[in-house]
Amino acid sequence: MQRESRKVSRRRFLKEATGAVGAASALTILKPRWVRGAEKEFGVVVLLGPPGAGKSEQSRRLTARHSIPIISTGDLLRDQVRRGTQLGLQADTYMKAGQLVPDSLMNPILEDRLSQPDCARGFILDGYPRTLAQAESLDALLKRKGLPPHIILLEVPTERLFKLLTGRRICPRCNRSYNIYFQPPQKENLCDADGTTLVQRPDDKEEVIRRRLDTYQKETQPAIEYYARQGRLVRVNGDQPPEKVAGEIESKLASQ
Ligand code: AP5
Repeated sequence: MQRESRKVSRRRFLKEATGAVGAASALTILKPRWVRGAEKEFGVVVLLGPPGAGKSEQSRRLTARHSIPIISTGDLLRDQVRRGTQLGLQADTYMKAGQLVPDSLMNPILEDRLSQPDCARGFILDGYPRTLAQAESLDALLKRKGLPPHIILLEVPTERLFKLLTGRRICPRCNRSYNIYFQPPQKENLCDADGTTLVQRPDDKEEVIRRRLDTYQKETQPAIEYYARQGRLVRVNGDQPPEKVAGEIESKLASQ
């Protein structure tokens, strides 16, 4: 019943997205690759979930399997901060405080990235949308591009999120992520790939984590309800080993 309503809303999205093209033929053109075969068009996968739910981890697994780029808004912003751009300096204040970066800064960077040729066949969105306004703006943008999204929500209990975030360590050189509790590096605090000393993200401190989780409840929950109301939300249990989460995502995408 739930799957039927997702299909209906996906069909409606495609019809609106493609205008003159009939919904049935649009579905054939835009069906994801796991339905039509590896050589065909992919689509867009939107990964939603609270801070620490494993969006980056699962994005990496999806990109390895399906060869479409990951667009992480957190990484786009951190890149601006690293390069010391005007935008990065402004965004940094919000990120360090555990608040959302305003749309006036966020949306132009995202739209610019999505206009690159590697995004033409599809992409994985990690960290966007985070508000109802961003969800509506993403719908409009994807309709223009004729790319129907699959909306995945990773669900993880709040008490576990604290451990996932406080235990996270990142390699500043290759960006590989570890977790001192669940996925430790082979040598303490050194990256397995290049031996660089691992660092903690400035927003992974306990007081900032609390604010990020608060922001998620207040700002992102309405976007999740927006997708749920339309029957487009696919819920995945993120509270299991990463390979099991990946398996559940693949099987739910395949059944859409
Ligand atoms: P962003 O970088 O997007 O952070 P986030 O959403 O808070 O998510 P995280 O990256 O912290 O967690 P994740 O879900 O990716 O988990 P991960 O896979 O790393 O955003 C940062 C900031 O940028 C925001 O606070 C905001 O200020 C700004 N921003 C970004 N996008 C914005 C937007 N659209 N609008 C406005 N502002 C925006 O996993 C976490 C840890 O757990 C890791 O250590 C990992 O190894 C481990 N792990 C993952 N899965 C498992 C598992 N299944 N079992 C065991 N361990 C696991």
